[in-house]
Amino acid sequence: MRRPLVIGNWKMKLGLAQSLNLARDLKRRVASLHSETELMVCPSTPFLLPVMEALQGSPIGVGAQDLVSQEPGAFTGGVSAEQLREVGVSCCIIGHSERRQFFGDTDEVVAAKLRAALRVDLLPVVCFGESEETRLQGKTETFIAGQIHAALDGLDPVQVKRLVLAYEPIWAIGTGKSAMPDDAEAVHGLMRSILQESFSTETAASVRILYGGSVTPANIASYMEREDIDGALVGGASLEAESFLQIVQFR
Ligand code: PGA
Repeated sequence: MRRPLVIGNWKMKLGLAQSLNLARDLKRRVASLHSETELMVCPSTPFLLPVMEALQGSPIGVGAQDLVSQEPGAFTGGVSAEQLREVGVSCCIIGHSERRQFFGDTDEVVAAKLRAALRVDLLPVVCFGESEETRLQGKTETFIAGQIHAALDGLDPVQVKRLVLAYEPIWAIGTGKSAMPDDAEAVHGLMRSILQESFSTETAASVRILYGGSVTPANIASYMEREDIDGALVGGASLEAESFLQIVQFR
């Protein structure tokens, strides 16, 4: 059985005081929540430690939004997997479309980053998603399959079991235009079948695949009732404790 997972991606949207207020609010409210769902939030890098401190004693994990693949060394501005591990970060988003689009994270870079996370046993949350143009051309499945093969080929089934994957159609991110649950489920099913063919049935059955793109308290249940959707990667709606925790309590 795959435990549901909801991750809040705070992007570059909150300052220190806002991050701490949100973390404290989440900690307070989550104490009275009876949910089997695993919960994580990903603040900006300078606020990882203070947010972790604020969340201490709560079941909410803290993740990073990115890392560099290189081992510690002369890479000005970089933050390595080892450094994130050292401060106790539990997961790291890798290959988010905003990284791919604005920071030049190619398929090769994504593959290297995900291996860096595995190197130190940091949970990689690896994102895949097509543009609106690709979808309109009817090439979504080929495109997603290509992205997945580029990221995962060469890993062994044991490594793949240590991943979380996320399907995040680019046109749905931050637009309010969430994917139809049928369309999302079709891509999740495709992703799982690739895991089955390339690795093993057992691997495919154990890897959690999240949906991301304009997830809200109003639409979360329509995704979670689908067989192959195991949780959500949430941007906008994770910036307030109320909406984020409503998403966590999707039942
Ligand atoms: P959104 O962002 O929920 O604001 O659409 C999702 C994401 O980018 O992870």
